[in-house]
Amino acid sequence: MEHYFCKVPVLHIEFMRFTYYGHACFMIETAGKKLLFDPFITGNDKAKHIDINSIQADYILLSHGHGDHIADLVPIAKNTGATVIAMAEIAHWAEEHGIKNVHPMNYGPKAFEFGKVRMVPAAHSSSLPDGSYGGNPGGFIVTTSDGSFYYTGDTCLTSDLKLVPHYGKLDFAVMPVGGNYTMDPEDAMIASDFIQCNRVVGVHYNTWPIIGIDTNKALAAFKAAGKELHLPAIGETIEL
Ligand code: NI
Ligand code: MN
Repeated sequence: MEHYFCKVPVLHIEFMRFTYYGHACFMIETAGKKLLFDPFITGNDKAKHIDINSIQADYILLSHGHGDHIADLVPIAKNTGATVIAMAEIAHWAEEHGIKNVHPMNYGPKAFEFGKVRMVPAAHSSSLPDGSYGGNPGGFIVTTSDGSFYYTGDTCLTSDLKLVPHYGKLDFAVMPVGGNYTMDPEDAMIASDFIQCNRVVGVHYNTWPIIGIDTNKALAAFKAAGKELHLPAIGETIEL
């Protein structure tokens, strides 16, 4: 029997760990690194139970310069020593605000120690909280040894999303679903068709009434379309 077991191939199941910190802030743990996206926590009444001093990060990726995506950038970057990956204008702004490790980029691919990051356009705007120019807004396609995911950043439904499948198969996508400033759940379903990925994590909803959605209705609509919508609680970790 021992020999029999020795011949059974080891099932190697790769996944990434996703932790939600509210609004559009989340952590992805992949390839042994912690990637934090769009830190906005202390200004979010729904995320009062999250202590930003407890957050560890190796990298902080910023989709654009709006306050609801970077308000807690400086303290978290300083606490953790994380490298900030962002549009060049935002990376330089971060440097001016005392962040030592920055990696400026623009739309295009770049290899990092944890995998490949491709910054792609988002249809939105991107000024910084002090009025500085933040360049153009974007999203990130991240590919590591564990798989591939796409964070669209704040965007409306746009035909640029149709290019995403050309970069390879996605395991999941993180998209705003609150409407008003971005896509709503119906748009996100169409976007998931465009990017050919039926596993979606919804963010950027219910932080304020203006981006309020009926989560049960959204979950049912995705299910009826044969798609997965994940809406983790703030502070919850899921495996994807
Ligand atoms: Ni925005
Ligand atoms: Mn936003």
